[in-house]
Amino acid sequence: KFTSYFSVIAGAVALSTISPVGISAAFAAPVVFEIAFNQPETHPQFKALQMFAEGLKNRTNGEYSAEVFPNELLGAQKETVEMTQTGTVAMSVAAASLLESWNPDFSVFNLPYLFNSIEEQKDVLNNPEIVGDLYNSVTDQSVIVLGSFTAGARSVYLKDRFVKTPADLAGKKIRVMQSDTNVQMMKHMGGVGIAMGQGEVYTAIQTGVLDGGENNEIVYSSLKHAEVAPYFSNTRHLMIPDYLVMNVDLYKELPDGIKTILKEELAKAFAFEFDAFAADAAKARADAEKAGAKFSDDVDMEAFRAAVKPLVDSKLTNDVTKSIYQKIEALR
Ligand code: GCU
Repeated sequence: KFTSYFSVIAGAVALSTISPVGISAAFAAPVVFEIAFNQPETHPQFKALQMFAEGLKNRTNGEYSAEVFPNELLGAQKETVEMTQTGTVAMSVAAASLLESWNPDFSVFNLPYLFNSIEEQKDVLNNPEIVGDLYNSVTDQSVIVLGSFTAGARSVYLKDRFVKTPADLAGKKIRVMQSDTNVQMMKHMGGVGIAMGQGEVYTAIQTGVLDGGENNEIVYSSLKHAEVAPYFSNTRHLMIPDYLVMNVDLYKELPDGIKTILKEELAKAFAFEFDAFAADAAKARADAEKAGAKFSDDVDMEAFRAAVKPLVDSKLTNDVTKSIYQKIEALR
């Protein structure tokens, strides 16, 4: 409760200071793109976005730059993605799960056990031959996907026990992201998926609304979820990216030369983040252990993989999703 109330207040204050078109001083240089971000400043995506902002500023002699608003200051992801649609902010980082309500084909990247490593993901997620059409498919919803960050692998954590097989999740209420695919995924994994924004999870576990959550080590550690759910089992069931989305009108209005600089600087930022993530996740795991978390590798991954197979099959129903899936398999 406290977290979400605080976000609303903080969001309202911050919003009153920015222009309604997502950029400060719309008609005068310098142009500053506001970027909504839901994680703390220590997150590798924050560092990557700062790097992008700096590169953009340097290469346009200060005419264009960006300002990142971390910690859900402008709202939870679901809200900030909608603010990007209306142009209230220029860009937002959005977990991939959120975009499937705009175009169901995005669910292909929301499927469990799709990738085996960050390296595999890196080869796919910013490869225009594989994702170009998909990323451009939401321009009719006023946004464009500029590219992807990795968010590592997600695993299940509970307040009272480790998880080895799907049977261990029976009756457990686990927070998932706001996506139908993710709710169904948790059902196939044996538990009960409760969809909500990231900022509400700690209190929901503490008060018993949830028995646990699922996330990567960085979020688990930085949001102190170990304090309320110290049993982290390495199910590594989901490698779901985070997209950087931008208001499409703002993007289209940019001069071609600026578009090129923007894309080049983003490519550097995405590459940096993919390379930095694993080390940051390992550090986060060590930090969480110091704070009392216990990690288990005793997970029957094959049992979970088999349990979610029907879900994967049910989502690969048209040419777009099948072709992306086949390209991912071909790269293995
Ligand atoms: C990941 C992801 C975030 C997302 C979060 C969540 O950490 O990087 O973009 O917000 O999971 O669980 O909501």
